[in-house]
Amino acid sequence: MIGFRTLEAEGDTANGDKPRPPSKKPKANHWARDVSAYDILEPIGEGTYGKVWKAKEPGCDIVVALKMIKATDKEGNSCDGGFPITSIREIRILRTLTHDNIVELLEVVTDSHGKVEDGKQGDVYMAFEYLEYDLWALANSSQVKLTATHIKTYMKQMLDAIAYMHTNKVMHRDLKLANMLIGADGILKVGDWGLARSFHDNQTKHTPTVITLWYRPPEVLLRTTRYGPAVDMWSVGCILAELLYESPILPGTHEKEQLNLIYSLCGTPTDESWPDRTELPDWSLYANAAEEHKPRSIQSKFRFDRLGVDLVDKLLTLDPSKRLSAAEALDHPYFWHDPRVVQPSELSKFAIHSCHEFEVKKVKEKERLRRKEAEAKVQEVRAAAANRPSEADAKPSDRW
Ligand SMILES: Nc1ncnc2c1ncn2[C@@H]1O[C@H](COP(=O)(O)OP(=O)(O)O)[C@@H](O)[C@H]1O
Ligand SMILES: [Mg+2]
Repeated sequence: MIGFRTLEAEGDTANGDKPRPPSKKPKANHWARDVSAYDILEPIGEGTYGKVWKAKEPGCDIVVALKMIKATDKEGNSCDGGFPITSIREIRILRTLTHDNIVELLEVVTDSHGKVEDGKQGDVYMAFEYLEYDLWALANSSQVKLTATHIKTYMKQMLDAIAYMHTNKVMHRDLKLANMLIGADGILKVGDWGLARSFHDNQTKHTPTVITLWYRPPEVLLRTTRYGPAVDMWSVGCILAELLYESPILPGTHEKEQLNLIYSLCGTPTDESWPDRTELPDWSLYANAAEEHKPRSIQSKFRFDRLGVDLVDKLLTLDPSKRLSAAEALDHPYFWHDPRVVQPSELSKFAIHSCHEFEVKKVKEKERLRRKEAEAKVQEVRAAAANRPSEADAKPSDRW
């Protein structure tokens, strides 16, 4: 069971910061409700530590997303200290942020009887407000077409949330399409705060093992530990470009390739474009990747919406100190020209009433297997035809 106030002693031990002294505040006097307060409906996500379920409170209209926090390891033993650090951060930070475009954590519940399928007795769940879509699913579903107005209106809401969190000295560190939740009312909410962290000044060290590879900025790939909110702005540039280009723009498979892809698109860094780069811990490790001069090619590669490309260009600035902030991005002409940002409720509705990455990926995988099977059948038929004796071989006497 979990009382919210017991979480305050958490520090970023992964990066060598001094742990904070234990909280002297009294433990909260309320205990978590049991998960049986909800009817579990269906799985909607595959979380890092377990599934995410859609659930409903019986007798009322409250629908939630229950995200499992594994309190036990794979063998069923209690984890060291009870909860993964990511979940503790997620709860702690979400309790400090309140914004229309940030997902709301409603409560934390326990499964005392092992009621939830795939779960175990003692598992703990975060109950979030339920949102019908995520942006990855919308961008990848064959049944949805995102218009330029959808994209601009979602980007505006995303940046509002990011400007708010950065003002409140929190960086998200895992911005990507699947973590943008969208309600049937068109409202976007930033979710998945497991890697979020507060920042104070550029002297604090942070772990460089954050941010999904395709959305990771060059300074983090080069292993700086003194980074700030600009890391989120690089991810925003990748997200906007992915939506406009209709495909991920920097799909590297490992760190070195990711850096090479970045240099091919953004140009190799120079003394002028990024003077401090040589001081980064892994600069010399990857220095050869920057030897061959590559020009910046964002404007020539992307042919979509001129102002959209310009905003992407300014967000994907190699030097984090020159990268656009969230407030500056909101001021960019992209948001002030046609098609205009609309009220979320004015956005055109989708034909499907819900979709999440989890199910769209399953559908895509099924389609892939079906295509593979069909191709194998075609190959089989071709091979059989090639091996079949020709009519001429079969009936040589017919020629006479
Ligand atoms: N509040 C929610 N409403 C609806 N779906 C959600 C909600 N929270 C998460 N999901 C779905 O579950 C997926 C995984 O949840 P997330 O919080 O991102 O966990 P992880 O840390 O594993 O990425 C999301 O990409 C989304 O599709
Ligand atoms: Mg996620």
